[in-house]
Amino acid sequence: MIYPIVVYGDAVLRKRATNIKEGTDLTELVENMYETMHGAHGIGLAAPQIGKSVRLFVVDGTTLDDEPTLVDFKKIFVNPQILKETGEEWDFEEGCLSIPNIREDVWRKENVRIKYFDEQWNAFEEEFTGMKARIIQHEYDHIEGKLFIDYLTPLKKRMLKGKLADISKGDVDTDYRILAPLKKIILAFN
Ligand code: NI
Repeated sequence: MIYPIVVYGDAVLRKRATNIKEGTDLTELVENMYETMHGAHGIGLAAPQIGKSVRLFVVDGTTLDDEPTLVDFKKIFVNPQILKETGEEWDFEEGCLSIPNIREDVWRKENVRIKYFDEQWNAFEEEFTGMKARIIQHEYDHIEGKLFIDYLTPLKKRMLKGKLADISKGDVDTDYRILAPLKKIILAFN
């Protein structure tokens, strides 16, 4: 099942998500997350982006032809916990399915050490680097209630204010279904 993607302005994107009870059957949720992410041509999707405030995200970089380091990067992170971020900060232009049509440079550390479960509740502790680390950091931020635009300078943020307001009203072009918080309210008054 493909969910509409919750966009900027919805409170669920600003909440710290809660851990999932160990042993919970995640088959359906994970299947729906992958389907939703692929339907929107994303390389990562966190549960809050489909309106579920739980600590789970999926990543799939295997379809990116121009990123050879990601050929094997298809994973599910359940109840993840970042233990350490190390290395130099580097910048890269990020985007987000919840903030359509906005891309900005974000600085992040090179390496990330993370503890997580897979969908079968096997426990892992691993270190990721470069683009893999960046995707993890971006998705992890989602379950902490953070968005990539939070890293921008006050000036940049001011410049994006109008576009962000449009997004929260659903006034944005996407090739996937979105759920815009202010659109819901407007419809409710009609
Ligand atoms: Ni995102």
